[in-house]
Parts: sequence; structure tokens; C-alpha cells
Amino acid sequence: MATTSEFSSKIGLIAATVGSAVGLGNVWRFPAETQAHGGAAFLLVYVICVLLFGIPVMLGEFSIGRAGKSDAIDSYKKLSPGKPWWISGFLGIVCSYLILTFYMVVSGWTLEYLYQSLSGELFAPIPGVEEGSNLQFADRMQEYVGGVWPPMIWTWITIAVCGGVLCMGVQKGIERASNILMPLLFVILIILCINAMSLPKAAEGLEYFFNPNFSKITPKVCISALGQAFFSLSLGMGTLITYGSYFRKDTNLTRTAFTVSLLDMAVAILVGMIIFPGVMSFGLEGESFDGSALVFVTFPEIFNNMWCPQLWSSLFFILLAVAALTSSISIAEVSIAYFSSHFNLKRVPATCVVLVPLVLLSSLSSLSNGVLSDWTIFGYTIFGACDAVTANIIMPLGALIMAIYLGWFAPKNLMKDQLTNGGTIRNPLAGTVMFLLKWVTPILILVIFIASLFT
Ligand code: TRP
Repeated sequence: MATTSEFSSKIGLIAATVGSAVGLGNVWRFPAETQAHGGAAFLLVYVICVLLFGIPVMLGEFSIGRAGKSDAIDSYKKLSPGKPWWISGFLGIVCSYLILTFYMVVSGWTLEYLYQSLSGELFAPIPGVEEGSNLQFADRMQEYVGGVWPPMIWTWITIAVCGGVLCMGVQKGIERASNILMPLLFVILIILCINAMSLPKAAEGLEYFFNPNFSKITPKVCISALGQAFFSLSLGMGTLITYGSYFRKDTNLTRTAFTVSLLDMAVAILVGMIIFPGVMSFGLEGESFDGSALVFVTFPEIFNNMWCPQLWSSLFFILLAVAALTSSISIAEVSIAYFSSHFNLKRVPATCVVLVPLVLLSSLSSLSNGVLSDWTIFGYTIFGACDAVTANIIMPLGALIMAIYLGWFAPKNLMKDQLTNGGTIRNPLAGTVMFLLKWVTPILILVIFIASLFT
């Protein structure tokens, strides 16, 4: 069945799509990747990847969604009946569900850290551990994440909050929440950034982040930058097909894709401008940002060195919670849209069908960081396995099938019609976008996919 939901305004549409894109990927994954892959060199390649590959693929997803006017699977079925291309949408839905199982858990952590920041508990000394040391925060994190009830309860709270918004539907739920939360996110980001600029070694941090050493650009850096661009822009999982189906006929897709991508990139860059001055100013360069350490250990350490740690830390975790929640909502919407349109379910039952099993799965995922850490699949914990399988295998495969479809097998005028709104608007970039999708994107994803199997 076709979807009848639509975003009601241009601003709401942008807020919701930016809300999906801006998430843990920008605040958590981006700085860790930047640090691991040579600072400014990584940033440069990342920006190129967003412009050259991210935007065309985003336009591809928007086009499939708006032309098919349905969920990630049925949009393909409607555009190319009887052909197997819907498998790309199917992979997207499976992938999005797997991602949810750990995304909800980490979103729950952000709520706990927000609570601890507001109450001041986060900065309370631990007996036997030197105050203000890295260990103080690393220990606290380990103890919390490995626990049984608190992380699980926060995960349930996250699911319930997302469920509440999702039950209210596209306009009254997703769009309204994004309209309130996204401006808040930008205001907090700018306040934190201004504060970071006042730190003693801000200039050194900016130098590290913005002045590229070209010799550091290696194939591995390019692969990671492309992966980061895809994850951060919410590509390859049917999310933007689903959101595209809520776009109006007169929405200018190209302008929307540029706005969303540039805002998403701006958030990542502002986060870098907060973290690197802090790291340089307080001598934390030697610390690894890997895994959860950046957000839950390094950031609290930085705030602990500032005046009024509780204030900065609370602002930061509000920011992170907002980013995480709007993205979780968009990831869950992929499955909810499928159940509601395919099985003709109303919003509330469709939301329950998706979220009730998720309570169980994400609880398992949460426990796999502690008591169930012995349950492993090919050496990964449940949490780690969901992350690895989705990011490294299903996501690139889904995106590859989509690019091949759009470039070679989709109805002939699909992209052109969508990019020009059926010929009613001029789009000087339409030819370039179609060329990139036909040749560059599939070859590149294939190369990266194969390379990632060997690295
Ligand atoms: N883009 C979000 C982030 O940066 C995560 C996300 C939401 C996502 N929807 C997605 C990632 C779809 C891949 C595909 O955290």
C-alpha cells in the first residue's frame, strides 16, 4: 500500500532529515576516525567523499522513496515490479533493525551520563583512584556499561521515548520532535564551540584538525572516510528512501540533499573544533578515542579541567542524547513504515510490532557488554557482531545494489524526473549526479567492499 504521510513544511522536512543524519556518528565515530586516520588528512578526504559520493547516493534514495511513495521494499517493487531489486530494501530493513539493537543501548548510556552530569555524580571521586585521572572516568564507564540493570533500564527508557514519538506519526511525532530538538542541538553545539576556543591550546587543536599532511592520505584513510560519510549521512539502509516517501511533490531534492549534507558535515566539524582544542589543552593527545572511550571518558576528562564541569558536561550530554534519539527514531521508522504500509497496520500497532521484540534484543545486546560477554559469535559479542555485520557487510551491499539499480536498471527517466520534479525545475547538476551514480559510486563501493574484506 502507498504511504499517505508527508512532512508538512520545508523546515520540518529538513529538521527531520538532519535529525536522522546527525547522530552518534558525528559526535562519537567522526572524532575517533579522525584521530585514528591522521587528523586533517582524514577530514579532507571525508569532505570530498560527502560531496562526490554522499550527495548522489542520498539523491538516489530520495528519488526511489518519492517516486515509489512507499517503504524501502515496496518502493522498489512498485518501480520495477517482478524484479528482485527490492532485496536492496530488504537488506536495508534487516540492517536497520540490527543497528537499532546497539544504537538504542548506546543512546541509553547517553541518558545515564546526562543524569550523572546533572546530579554531579560523574565528577565525584572514586575511593582509591586518583581524582581527575583518566582512570576515574574509565573505571566509572566500565563499571556502568558492564552492569546489569542500569544500562538495560536506560535502554528501555530510550525505546519507550522513541516509541512515544513514533506512535504519534510522521507529522505530529517525528517532524514536531525534530523541529524542537534540532535547533536546540545547534545552539548547544555553538556554545560548546565558543567555550573550546577559549582554551589555552585551542590554536594547536585547530592546527591538528585543519592543516592536512598530504602524505597521510592512504587507501585505508579513503576507505574509512567513505564509510564514515555513508554512516553519517544515514545512507544504504532505506532510511532516506523512507523519508523520501514523505517528501512533497514540489520538494527540491537536490537543494534538500545539499542542505542536509552540509549541515551534517558542519556538525562533525564543530564537534572536532570542540574536542581537539580540549585534547591539546589538557595533554590528552596520547589517549585513544577508540570504542566508547571518547564520549564517555575523554569528554568528561576535558570538562573536569574546566570551570563548572557539571554545566559543560550536562550541555554536552543533552546534545548527544538529542542526536542519538532523533537518529534512533529514523532508524526505527524504516521497519515501522514497512509494517504499516505492507500489512496495512495503523501507526501504534506497527510501532509495537517493531519495538517490542527490540526490547528483548537490545537487552541481550546490553548484557553482552557485561555478564553475557562470553556469548560470542565468531569472536564478537552480540553487541559487537551486530555492529560489524551491519557496517561492514550488509550496508555496503545494500548501497551497491541500489547504485547498480539506479545507474543501469531503473525506469529510464526515474532519476531525471525526480531531480527536475518532472521537468518543472531546472537542475544543472542532474547530469553529473546521474553520471556519478552510474559509474563512480558502484565501482567505488565494490572496491571498498573488497578492500574491507582484506583489511
Ligand atoms: N546517521 C546517523 C549517525 O550519524 C545514524 C543513522 C541513522 C544511520 N540512520 C541511518 C546510519 C541509516 C546508516 C544508515 O549516527
